[in-house]
Formats: sequence, C-alpha cells, structure tokens
Amino acid sequence: MRQDDRVNDHDSASPDPAAMRTQYRAEGLAEDDLAATPVEQFARWFTQAAAQARLFEPNAMVVSTADAEGRPSSRTVLLKHFDEQGFVFYTNYGSRKAQDLAENPYVSLLFPWHPMARQVIVRGVARRTGRDETAAYFRTRPHGSQLGAWASVQSSVVPSRAELDASYAELAARYPEGEQVPVPPHWGGFRVAPESVEFWQGRENRLHDRLQYVGEADGGWRVERLSP
Ligand SMILES: Cc1cc2nc3c(=O)[nH]c(=O)nc-3n(C[C@H](O)[C@H](O)[C@H](O)COP(=O)(O)O)c2cc1C
Repeated sequence: MRQDDRVNDHDSASPDPAAMRTQYRAEGLAEDDLAATPVEQFARWFTQAAAQARLFEPNAMVVSTADAEGRPSSRTVLLKHFDEQGFVFYTNYGSRKAQDLAENPYVSLLFPWHPMARQVIVRGVARRTGRDETAAYFRTRPHGSQLGAWASVQSSVVPSRAELDASYAELAARYPEGEQVPVPPHWGGFRVAPESVEFWQGRENRLHDRLQYVGEADGGWRVERLSP
C-alpha cells in the first residue's frame, strides 16, 4: 500500500473543496457523432469507459428513486445488462429502493465517469425482470454472493454484525460449495426502460456538451442540446 492510499481517520486538516478545479478535455460531443439510439451511444461510451484503466467499475451507477410522497434517495448499484429494452440491475425486492419503485416506478440512473469528464444520466421507468431472466443471472453469481442474497434482509436494521455472519454461516452449512443455491424469492432484477438519456462531456471553460435523447410517441428519438 502506498503512503497516500492509507486512510487516516485522525487527519485534522481536510482539503478545501472550493479550491478544487479541474480543466476538462477539449474534444467535444457533436450531434453528428451520435448513434441512432441512446442505447447504441451508451454502448460506445461504455466500451471506452471499460478501456480506461483509471476508471474503476464503469458499470457502477447511482440509482435514484423517490417514494410516493416524492422523497428521494440514491445509492450505487451495478449495471448487469443493457439492450434496447433497457438497463438491468439486481437487488433485494424488500429493500428501500424496491419499496420506492413499487410506489413510484420513475427512476434515474447516473454513471459518474469522472476520469473521462463524462456523465450519462438515464431517466425512465423500472419494471421487475421476469423470474427466468433473474434465475439465469443468479446462476452466474459466485456461490458466496448467492448465499449473501439469502443472508441479507437488505435495508432492514441488523442487531449486530455477528448476527449477519451467523446467518451466512448457517446458509453456508446448508448449501456447501458446489451445491445449487435456489434463487431467493425476495431477490431479482429491475429493467429501466429509458425515456430520456443525457450524454455529458466536460469541455473547457465550463462550456460542456450536453446532448439529450428524448423518446417520442412513435418509438423514435429526438436529440436536443442542453445549456451547460
Ligand atoms: C460499488 C457498489 C456496488 C453496489 N452494487 C449493488 C447492486 O448491484 N445491488 C444492490 O442491491 N446493492 C448494491 N450496492 C449496495 C447499495 O449501494 C445499497 O447499499 C443497497 O442496495 C441498499 O440500498 P437501499 O437501502 O437504498 O435499497 C452497491 C454498492 C456499491 C458501493
């Protein structure tokens, strides 16, 4: 571990965020460069993000939901699949995000690709994936993650770490490595069908490019440029 990677909880002087300034790249994003659909454009940028050594977990995205009263909450999840039907992530159906989505299916996904001065924001509607699709993905997960999906009652209060570990140990004894773990009924995917997708490219002097695809009634897409 390098000296500057070490976390020191006792550091008294924290850096001043107001003094932090980065000049972003000059190459922009032009209307003529865009793919025909936002999913194709996402695929291009995702490929470039995945090739960036400095970009850790390009499939990590911030999912924002709101409850029936409009109170928002956000958290990071991993994108596991995308195609013209939408963007898929997996989670616990009893979690806060899943409860929000049951009351209000409108959702925002944000990909913070800072090392490339890029950001993609997908806004759309989330629906649960079918059980077959969930099961197919669950079977690709490592054994330990499969057990973890059973052991965690995500978003509920846990009395202690020891209780969480004990519940995992119990499951590990019941389903040893090599034995098939059933798909938990309370676990599965959400597919976010996009209604709009914004591609943000940082440019010099804060004159960034923001090109947004907006879904039209006939299934096509219109592109609009937003002021930075
Ligand atoms: C990098 C990263 C990836 C994560 N991936 C997932 C994921 O794919 N699914 C998930 O349910 N939680 C994932 N989490 C945990 C969530 O951020 C969150 O703590 C959890 O889903 C409970 O959220 P909720 O209480 O708002 O529903 C991830 C966290 C991080 C930091």
